[in-house]
Amino acid sequence: MTTKAIMEDVRSAQFATEIFQGLTATPKYLPAKYFYDTAGDEIFQEIMNCEEYYLSACELEIFRKQTAGLAAAIMQPGSPFDLIELGAGDCKKSAYLLRYLVRTGGSFTYIPIDISSNIINYIQTQLPLKIAGLNVRGLNGEYLPMISEAAKVSGKRKVVLFLGSNLGNLAPAEARAFCRKLRCHLRPGDLVLIGLDLKKCPDIILAAYNDKTGITKRFNLNLLKRINRELNGDFDIGQFHHFPVYDPPSGACKSYLISLADQQVTLWCNGDVQHIRFVRNEEIFMEISQKYTIDQVDRLAGESSFRTVQRFYDDRGWFVDALWSAV
Ligand code: AVJ
Repeated sequence: MTTKAIMEDVRSAQFATEIFQGLTATPKYLPAKYFYDTAGDEIFQEIMNCEEYYLSACELEIFRKQTAGLAAAIMQPGSPFDLIELGAGDCKKSAYLLRYLVRTGGSFTYIPIDISSNIINYIQTQLPLKIAGLNVRGLNGEYLPMISEAAKVSGKRKVVLFLGSNLGNLAPAEARAFCRKLRCHLRPGDLVLIGLDLKKCPDIILAAYNDKTGITKRFNLNLLKRINRELNGDFDIGQFHHFPVYDPPSGACKSYLISLADQQVTLWCNGDVQHIRFVRNEEIFMEISQKYTIDQVDRLAGESSFRTVQRFYDDRGWFVDALWSAV
């Protein structure tokens, strides 16, 4: 067996284990990182292009209009760097910065990290065609293990892009723990550019996760389809209702799938057949998309041994890309 095939086996065993854990927990949940199979990647693209999902448009505006400012903030004369991106996705936003950095003569390696092998293959083959002269070394896997890999590839100063409110998929306490672990992989002076969605009118936030045309609903249901395919499951997709909520005081936007009936789902977990029971109106917690105030973003930096260097906002002030320096 090749190393790649073994890694693939470990991955699908982990997928089965974590899905089964979530569906047998009380209350039930599914890990949001598993949204991103090939179909999920495509649906997420649709989300980013839909009218209600303002996050991508805001951050794209920052990268489009403030490219030079961003580049100036991360370039330091006489201090070469490598650029790591966590959850790179389609690189649409970072491409503005990458193109600028390549043009202004930066010799750096771009190390995108993504949970989707589909995405990493896409970046590796397509991005160098779009940005001539760009060195790309993609890493497919979870953030922290792959940052360790990146450290083996690069001994230079590190600049980490963590855009798109990707951190928002963690509840505040987990987010803090994550930022502390991230800090442990960095040296003093290394930079993190973190993009976070800010608290705003609750109607606007809720609509972003409940788009009229039902793209976000499909995005959530796609994980059930993935379970059907990869774990030989028999989820009846029509028997689940997409239900997002936003809670202004906590800043937590949460998505649930609600079982429309008493039902039983069968799936296979690492060689064993399993039956999961749902009662009517029982929920599966699918995802948190945490919203922050600027004070909370600064506090998060401080609590994980970073110092805020600079903040970049879109014109409406709906989204921030905060530049943190490791203390
Ligand atoms: C990729 C985690 C930032 O939470 O806004 C979008 C994912 N889920 N619509 C988000 C998502 C439903 C997105 N993040």
